[in-house]
Amino acid sequence: MKKRVLVATGGGDCPGLNAVIRAITLRASQEKNWEVIGSINAFDGVLNEPQEIVVLDEKKVGGIHIRGGTIIGTTNKGGPFAWPIKNQDGSWGSADRSDEMLRRLQYLGVDAVINIGGDGSQSISQQLFEKGLNVIGVPKTIDNDLSATDFTFGFQTAVQEATTAVDKLVTTADSHNRVLILEVMGRYAGWIALHSAVAGGAHVCLIPEIPYDIPKVVERIYQRFNKGRGFAIIVVAEGAKPKDGDMYYEESTETGYKNVRLGGVATKLMKELKDGGLQADMRETVLGHLQRGGTPIAYDRVLATQFGVRAFEMVLEGKFGEMVAYRHPNIVSVPFKEAIAHYNFVDPSSDLVKTARGVGICMGD
Ligand code: F6P
Repeated sequence: MKKRVLVATGGGDCPGLNAVIRAITLRASQEKNWEVIGSINAFDGVLNEPQEIVVLDEKKVGGIHIRGGTIIGTTNKGGPFAWPIKNQDGSWGSADRSDEMLRRLQYLGVDAVINIGGDGSQSISQQLFEKGLNVIGVPKTIDNDLSATDFTFGFQTAVQEATTAVDKLVTTADSHNRVLILEVMGRYAGWIALHSAVAGGAHVCLIPEIPYDIPKVVERIYQRFNKGRGFAIIVVAEGAKPKDGDMYYEESTETGYKNVRLGGVATKLMKELKDGGLQADMRETVLGHLQRGGTPIAYDRVLATQFGVRAFEMVLEGKFGEMVAYRHPNIVSVPFKEAIAHYNFVDPSSDLVKTARGVGICMGD
């Protein structure tokens, strides 16, 4: 009987997931005694009744590297350690189904698991590893907020989308002499905002790591208007916050969704600028999930493919409890504990922030 590796994609989707799934499957097909199966919607496919497991072979993964999303689905709710259950009074609680999941994996004949996901998914990987599961991690997120790897796949595609949005906003802002605000994703890190502001030539870039000062932003916009350039582009990260305030978020009401929901800072910023005395026509654009969907750019396909091949080779080598990572120019692996220990924030004194300032981008301080 062949050995089995089970692949799961967890957390928010991101361009390049299918390229990883394809790479794992193609690399495994070079080994005579291995086969690949996928669990639908992260580990839900293993835990659901009936189970939802698919065979991943060369035919199934043919051509999927150019498709966004994930052919095996994903979820950012619940998981084996916090499975949502309805209490008798109608409220929702959670149950630990991890032991049951390990038994189910054994029954399925699974020898190893490759868990593709962000920090939440990799802390699930660590807990499962501690319980004895042979598990390897592959990092993914458009936010690029995992410190163990130089880049996560999906990030550059998101930056490309955001840059295209800046390019488009420039022409309409110029025509109407407006201040246009673009809100991009990134959670608590400003990577997408910073990269797209530099690539698109924005005039203001506000990121969570550098709390903004409204009078400074107003001053920068007036400087520009006074030079006869009657428009300005502001890129604001969803997690950006004012000097004396907090980031803008809502608690989620979705069952099993643990994260807060960021989004809405652009509208808040527009009001703050108006209250701060900025007399210009302003409009906001929230780019939202357009950053997450669609075809991965070539860079992300390459990185995702490297991650997939290496992840399967780590299975062959028995390098369990580790996550594949990119440390230029190498593909390496790091223990889960190290991989999830530090959040990858933008360093305000980094070269890229200096570059942004060097071309006149106001960072809000
Ligand atoms: O982590 C990726 C991300 O797209 C964040 O940038 C964003 O805050 C969040 O996920 C949105 O999550 P959801 O798809 O659940 O709304």
